[in-house]
Amino acid sequence: MSRHSKRDLSEFGDLFMPDQADEPILPPPVRAALLEWLTEIWADKELLAVGIKPRRRAMFEGPPGTGKTTLAHHMAARLGLPMLAVRPDRMIGKYMGETSQTIGALFEAARAQFDGSPIVLFMDEFDTLASDRRKAGQAADNDRNEYVGTLLQRLEQYEGFLIAATNHADWIDQAIWRRFDMHITVDLPGQEERERILARYLSPFGLPALALARLAEAFSSASPALMKTVCENIKRQIVIGPRLGSDMGREAVFARILTSVHPHPDLGTPRLWSLGAKDPALTVMPWPLPLAADLPDVEAAEDDAAGQDVVVPFGGRRP
Ligand SMILES: Nc1ncnc2c1ncn2[C@@H]1O[C@H](COP(=O)(O)OP(=O)(O)OP(=O)(O)O)[C@@H](O)[C@H]1O
Ligand SMILES: [Mg+2]
Repeated sequence: MSRHSKRDLSEFGDLFMPDQADEPILPPPVRAALLEWLTEIWADKELLAVGIKPRRRAMFEGPPGTGKTTLAHHMAARLGLPMLAVRPDRMIGKYMGETSQTIGALFEAARAQFDGSPIVLFMDEFDTLASDRRKAGQAADNDRNEYVGTLLQRLEQYEGFLIAATNHADWIDQAIWRRFDMHITVDLPGQEERERILARYLSPFGLPALALARLAEAFSSASPALMKTVCENIKRQIVIGPRLGSDMGREAVFARILTSVHPHPDLGTPRLWSLGAKDPALTVMPWPLPLAADLPDVEAAEDDAAGQDVVVPFGGRRP
């Protein structure tokens, strides 16, 4: 064991506790994959009896702001475990061999923890550590080859749960890629998910079904994170606009929001940003926004399937 084995886990990133987790709104195939994984972890003893172990390593792939970190945290919470979100900037070192050593120290610390109270290890921006090895040449490449090799070995030996996330799945080293039992694509949301995301983040305000559907169409190709930001800005405007004496007309409010909130250019331009405050979705939107509780045809914004929130402690059984 190296001298690094005594390093504290918090040196490598941030600890996320189970009670702080949110459930991301995801399309049915992703939810199904997650439930399958949870179920096999809960059934670990039955699986062991037939000679297999639950899968331990998953890679979440997809564009920024689609809920990969949120999903990892939610997964950990459903297992009743804290999650260590490893910070890539704490892993990459300046000196030759430093990154490799830090990777070793991280896995030693996680393993020591695993024997006592386990955690889920979450490695965000995984491509920064695991992008493919180059043919050895320059010193930086040699260093990279070394730490990618170390990461590969450590991944193989690690017994705990590990989730990696990346926006650049195609950059990941192939050998490392193969060490993951599961690859889950967390893509941009479809119309149905967009409606649910808007309803969640507009709450306590709400929209009648038709207006909600129109607004969700205007956000096509937007990430959940972008939709959340717009919804928060709408609510912020509703609260602070009148104090500032701002024009609180619908068009004026949206014009202000759309000047300060922009989608990343790489992800395409959702219609709302092409048409701006003149978007037809806004013309069918009741204004001022009604409270969800006052709308007859709006069910509770939160639609988490029954029982989904139950936290089953690691090693426990699904109730
Ligand atoms: N599918 C979703 N449902 C509900 N909220 C979401 C969803 N995806 C993202 N969000 C919200 O957007 C914010 C950013 O999400 P998160 O950090 O999980 O995205 P990410 O995929 O990890 O992004 P990145 O690739 O940039 O790390 C969070 O506040 C989260 O609540
Ligand atoms: Mg993330």
